[in-house]
Amino acid sequence: MRRIDGPKLADRLQAIPPFHVMEIVRIAEALEASGVDVIHLEVGEPDFPTSPSVIERACAALHAGKTRYTDARGIQPLRDALSRWYQGQGLNVPASRIQITVGASGGLLLSAAATTNPGDAVLMADPAYPCNPRFVEAVGGVVHWIPTNASTQFQPRAAQLEDMATERDRSLMLAHPANPTGQAVPAIELERMIQWCRNTRRHLIVDEIYQNLAFTQDLQSSLAFSDEHFVIGSFSKYFNMTGWRLGWMVIPDYALEATQRLAQHLFICAPSFAQEAALACFEPDAMRAAEAHRIELQARRDLLIPRLEAMGFQIAADPDGAFYVFVDASNVTQNSQQFCTDLIRQTGVAITPGVDFSGTLPPTWIRIAYTQPIARLEEAMQRMADFIGG
Ligand SMILES: Cc1ncc(COP(=O)(O)O)c(C=O)c1O
Repeated sequence: MRRIDGPKLADRLQAIPPFHVMEIVRIAEALEASGVDVIHLEVGEPDFPTSPSVIERACAALHAGKTRYTDARGIQPLRDALSRWYQGQGLNVPASRIQITVGASGGLLLSAAATTNPGDAVLMADPAYPCNPRFVEAVGGVVHWIPTNASTQFQPRAAQLEDMATERDRSLMLAHPANPTGQAVPAIELERMIQWCRNTRRHLIVDEIYQNLAFTQDLQSSLAFSDEHFVIGSFSKYFNMTGWRLGWMVIPDYALEATQRLAQHLFICAPSFAQEAALACFEPDAMRAAEAHRIELQARRDLLIPRLEAMGFQIAADPDGAFYVFVDASNVTQNSQQFCTDLIRQTGVAITPGVDFSGTLPPTWIRIAYTQPIARLEEAMQRMADFIGG
């Protein structure tokens, strides 16, 4: 192919690492095209469908001409519905502080843009959701990685922040629970980190996209402890609406007006028919389905963990929520990327090498997304056990 020499692209593009899982996805696609039965445990997306009532509401909205821009903050009924939903969880979040966003991704970009000057650093746990550094870099910031390990469930500790933070660090970004681990920040640490940010006048951004997919009763939103930080939410995971590109952000009063102004300039609004459709999420049938899915995910986690441990994978602590388990495969392989490639080729089971989530962990970690029904997970575990055993 002829090389096209265009003008020089921004330096930040050179630094974007590839998603190693895409190699697995490519192999999976080729195998599927040749008729192989592939079990997909690699992509961070629920396998449940969007609720039929949400789909009906979207169709009605489209027919009713809800295809134009909305208020940049989001439609008022949806902001009210989210406020009532928080109220039902014992949290007082006025609709005025809720900004509807283009997925959690839109909220993460917006919060990074609202809090980061060029050259500022953002404290973030390693391992992390791989897109998070990109939001920071896109607005000229840099990531100051917080090393973590299995003994702290791969979440930072407040004492660490005190030891390692520099003048340059303007904010702290947490995920609660996190991707790739499904681990939450323990309540006591969350309170301490909130306090530390307040005392040191740093911004705090908490990604709570998986907070409603929690398996323990006592996993509280960070909003239970403070209303002075940014909280990111999404319809993608709990409401199975990944493709609808709809999320929200709770904005602290001190940043409210300026952040809403920026949202208007960056996005104009989130998809209008998706906002209308999402109103149906809060009706009893859709809420019942979402809750049933959460319980199903917990059952999948409980099936998977002993099976993985029996194969030699090490799991530091049971995931608190989401649909991931992050395992140390060092008893099985010293090269998880090679292991994942061989596994997909020989068994049709697709899982994600941990290298996508961390530049510093040894190359023995793997993320498994339990986004398949129980019977398929059992089949996947059997294929993996046969592969390792033989
Ligand atoms: C921790 C975390 N934050 C944000 C996102 C992006 O979600 P959305 O689809 O709402 O943009 C993901 C998606 O996997 C995620 O795992």
